[in-house]
Amino acid sequence: MSNDPKDDLQTPEQSKASPVPVWIFAAMLLVLFGSGVYFDRHSGWFDAQVYAPYRTSAELEAYQPKSGAAAFFAEGQRQYSIICASCHGDNGQGKPGQAPPLADSEWVNTSSSKRVEQIPQLGLTGLIHVKGEAWNLQMAAMGVGLSDSDLAAVLTYIRGSWGNTASPVTDDDVKAMRALVAGHPPINGEAGLKAIKE
Ligand code: HEC
Repeated sequence: MSNDPKDDLQTPEQSKASPVPVWIFAAMLLVLFGSGVYFDRHSGWFDAQVYAPYRTSAELEAYQPKSGAAAFFAEGQRQYSIICASCHGDNGQGKPGQAPPLADSEWVNTSSSKRVEQIPQLGLTGLIHVKGEAWNLQMAAMGVGLSDSDLAAVLTYIRGSWGNTASPVTDDDVKAMRALVAGHPPINGEAGLKAIKE
């Protein structure tokens, strides 16, 4: 028998017992792992788009689902950027040697939309003047692959953008024009354009 006072406080069985059961560590690891997986799947990893998508009210507006005329216009813009912008420029400003401007063009800002309806359906070739500048190039019938609605949307977009203020174009306008000009050759320059009665 020793005289150490600790012997009285702790029996050999007690000192062997672990103060915290091992399964708790296992459980904590499991929870940590689970949380990690959850974070990975749902957090977006601190991406600004996930945590603060709307920095301005204009940005919030851009994310709203659009309806009616706004949706039609937005679709026109989308189609324009896919099909027309490579030649006519993102802002309708035209490109030297490639395509004349649509912004402020006398062929776009017309009271009736008949001419702009025909240009993408038939194509245009030969000399024309746009804002006093002569162009003598060719445009293929870039709109033939578009549905009536998509072409109407593009035309509405170009007639209502970059300072242009001409009236919108409807699906029915395009549909009727498609039937009217089916099989016609490309429009022959300025004379051909002027022959399309406004
Ligand atoms: C590959 C290039 C190219 C693409 C793509 C193109 N255009 Fe053109 N566009 C031209 C050229 C070139 C002219 C002028 C043709 C000429 O000199 O006779 C023209 C002329 C025009 C004109 C009349 C002139 C003016 O500037 O107002 C309009 C309107 C027009 N394009 C609309 C469109 C629309 C709408 C689209 C898309 C659906 C489109 N274009 C796609 C090349 C292009």
